[in-house]
Amino acid sequence: MQTPIRIALIKGDGIGIDVSDAAMTVAQAACDHVGGCAFDIAEIKAGAGYFQETGQDIEPGGEDAAGKADAIFLGAIGLPSVRYSDGTEISPHLRLRDRFGLYAGVRPVKAYLNAPQRLADPRAANIDMVILRESTEGLFYSAAVHNRSDIIGDSEVRDTLRITRATTEKLHHFGFRLAQKRKARGKPGRLTCVDKANVFASMAFFRKIYDEIAPAYPDIETGYSYVDAQALNLIRNPWDYDVMVMENMFGDILSDLAGGLVGGMGMAACAEIGDANGLFQPAHGSAPDIMGQDKANPLAAILSAALMLDYLGERTGNTRFDEAAHVIDSAVDAGFAANALRPIEFGGDMGTRAVTQAVLDSIVSRNGGAMT
Ligand SMILES: NC(=O)c1ccc[n+]([C@@H]2O[C@H](COP(=O)([O-])OP(=O)(O)OC[C@H]3O[C@@H](n4cnc5c(N)ncnc54)[C@H](O)[C@@H]3O)[C@@H](O)[C@H]2O)c1
Repeated sequence: MQTPIRIALIKGDGIGIDVSDAAMTVAQAACDHVGGCAFDIAEIKAGAGYFQETGQDIEPGGEDAAGKADAIFLGAIGLPSVRYSDGTEISPHLRLRDRFGLYAGVRPVKAYLNAPQRLADPRAANIDMVILRESTEGLFYSAAVHNRSDIIGDSEVRDTLRITRATTEKLHHFGFRLAQKRKARGKPGRLTCVDKANVFASMAFFRKIYDEIAPAYPDIETGYSYVDAQALNLIRNPWDYDVMVMENMFGDILSDLAGGLVGGMGMAACAEIGDANGLFQPAHGSAPDIMGQDKANPLAAILSAALMLDYLGERTGNTRFDEAAHVIDSAVDAGFAANALRPIEFGGDMGTRAVTQAVLDSIVSRNGGAMT
């Protein structure tokens, strides 16, 4: 008998609860629709609300349980009013990223029909790219959460940008394989290395490793951009990019810029993948300003669930998971094309529940489980 696939679900705080419920319902419906793939969900309590109740940011044993699951799905964690004694916000999810070495931050950016496009050029309708953000080192190596800044009294502070061969090799291999996977689905099959190799030794090293690895993927077109030029090009000709691989801080900034091109936070899906674990979450936070009002756009979470199913397909070799992921992506595509997805976030009339129901309706109305 096959061991059931286990998903550790951390709903967290605010709209994280609503959008993770929506995402799990849609993932379940997609798996039911294609058949032959199923998963069990085990919830782990964590977040600012849980901290207020218990003084702990995640339930006892929660991190271990998350590590043993086949995938972790997270809604959003944090409320600005709830803080640790050092003044920082409740963030057990950042420990998970560190503990499980979730180096590959995958952030797809895609334009949908009838969703906001911030660029006037009609070619903006063709935006379909992925920002691959290294997520464990780079300039975040010494970020506040790791407490590694070199603070010299009140006169100077030094942060370290760390690039290691071990992580960078894995990252670039991941990027090339992602470009291959997308190419197999009709995308260009191009990987652009975004860096600042003209100035920083760490970035020249990042590019050197990219160059060492590229020949193993002759089917993938390569390219380079300095990060400042890439910021320009994401406004000037974003439709020309496929997958872009970059250091942590660069990815942090450019993924928000890119997300802004195609709508807003409610569309920003995210996967964080390591050697043995994958964590999937919308890139947005708990949105206290709209929580409890059925106003959150659940699509970032729903698209993150599709990334999770895709990952489970690769992890288990069960292609039904890939098909279920494809069913969700197609349902969102079709929903926007038919103007049946009109999130309040974009001035529409549909709240969290209505958007979720429209995606479910679109899944049910699709033919069989075949990839279309
Ligand atoms: N990964 C995470 O769990 C994560 C990420 C970012 C922020 N946070 C936490 O979330 C809390 C709020 O942070 P913030 O306000 O800076 O960022 P946020 O992403 O929660 O909200 C920013 C703005 O975007 C809107 N928004 C976000 N998601 C939306 C959605 N799905 N649909 C419609 N509108 C949406 C919000 O209403 C708000 O106006 C903080 O406690 C922060 O620490 C958590």
